[in-house]
Amino acid sequence: MSKVQEVIQQAQHLFSQNSSPQHIIDVLGKLLDQINAQDLNLDELMANLNPECEWDSEPIFSTPDFSLQLFMIKKGSKIPLHDHPHMWVLMRVLYGTLHLRTFNWAEEYPLSGLARKCCDETANGATSTILVEPNNNNVHEIYAIDDCAFLDLLFPPYDHEERACHYYKEEQVNVNGETLTKLERLD
Ligand SMILES: [Fe+2]
Repeated sequence: MSKVQEVIQQAQHLFSQNSSPQHIIDVLGKLLDQINAQDLNLDELMANLNPECEWDSEPIFSTPDFSLQLFMIKKGSKIPLHDHPHMWVLMRVLYGTLHLRTFNWAEEYPLSGLARKCCDETANGATSTILVEPNNNNVHEIYAIDDCAFLDLLFPPYDHEERACHYYKEEQVNVNGETLTKLERLD
């Protein structure tokens, strides 16, 4: 069984057992850490990336409980600032180096669109699986320093209703002496 199949099979098992998000994260995070670029034949996939596309995604597996998706981004392009409402995401970088910027909503200013930058760092195949939670790292932008690829295991998956993906524009603002970021939905 391939390492990717192992993740899928283990995920199906965990969801059938109604496992807690923390348990799912612990088990699947360790399995995702074992996956590398060769397991997904990424040299070939990246060489054949559509030159017209800044980024592309390839669904690998999907159930009502979770989805596994491969994302590929051309050097110098980005997946713009977006969210994963009420979702967890295990993000495993497999190819190249990317720069990840994440934001958390400033909870003391509810519904204001104000957020604080949380993570602002590079990641590559040596980086452990990155965790996105409903209230942590949930809004993020991914910039490709090289041609790069990563896996996202999303649970629950997007549903185009209460868990629809939104894109944002950002603006730095000063609030009570603190520099925050105002995030405004584009859709
Ligand atoms: Fe994302």
